Amino acid sequence: MKHVVVFTGAGISAESGLKTFRGEDGLWEGYRIEDVATPAAWVKDPEMVQHFYNIRRKSVLEAHPNAAHRALVALEKKYRVSIITQNIDDLHERAGSNTVLHLHGLITRSQSSVNPKLTYPINGSEISMGERCELGSQLRPHVVWFGEPVPAMGEAIGMCRTADIFIIIGTSLQVYPAAGLLDEAPENAVKYFVDRQASALSRDRGLICIDEKATVGVPWIVEQLTDSQMD
Ligand code: APR
Repeated sequence: MKHVVVFTGAGISAESGLKTFRGEDGLWEGYRIEDVATPAAWVKDPEMVQHFYNIRRKSVLEAHPNAAHRALVALEKKYRVSIITQNIDDLHERAGSNTVLHLHGLITRSQSSVNPKLTYPINGSEISMGERCELGSQLRPHVVWFGEPVPAMGEAIGMCRTADIFIIIGTSLQVYPAAGLLDEAPENAVKYFVDRQASALSRDRGLICIDEKATVGVPWIVEQLTDSQMD
């Protein structure tokens, strides 16, 4: 079976009602990254950080997977599919995808603030101040903040290097190291980029650009790939 590696960003969940980060009405237009998404913010004002993610978690729990998430599940009938997502929502899993690697964490889990390897499910939509991990430290969101290492990068690079087909969906390709994964895919892999602004963002990197919203572009590619692959 050919290996399809899918690299997703906030744009795939936009039509599920979740905000993207950059651009008009993006999340980072309303908040300063350094106030809510850095280790320094957590030290300075943990209540504010907790509040920011509690609100976002509620939106994620209320959202539903869309046609783009579902199309990627259908791809598994004919291909080995590995999804690498920058998103902290769980919409790929809820759609039914089997292999999903979260580069930037998963908002539906909490994390020890002294050992990032200790993560836990969350009861309901909020983490409260005073809730502690097994080591006695305050629980924080299981999210990789700016300035923190990205522990899943090694595994993600390994996936990309064995890709026959590489599909990028709904990301502005601005945040590293994640955006560098594109360069790890073999040169002869066929590479697609579905994004409302794919052509403008692709910068001549040998990508087949589909300037469409995810719920149109992704089912279209999946249809092409499943029609053409016989074995
Ligand atoms: N369909 C397809 N693409 C869309 C849609 C849609 N309906 N709506 C928006 N987009 C595209 C935009 O054109 C943009 O290129 O989604 C992309 C979203 O880009 P960003 O907001 O920058 O999100 P992302 O690339 O996922 O951000 C990367 O940055 O803030 C950090 O950790 C956060 O994981 C995040 C990382």
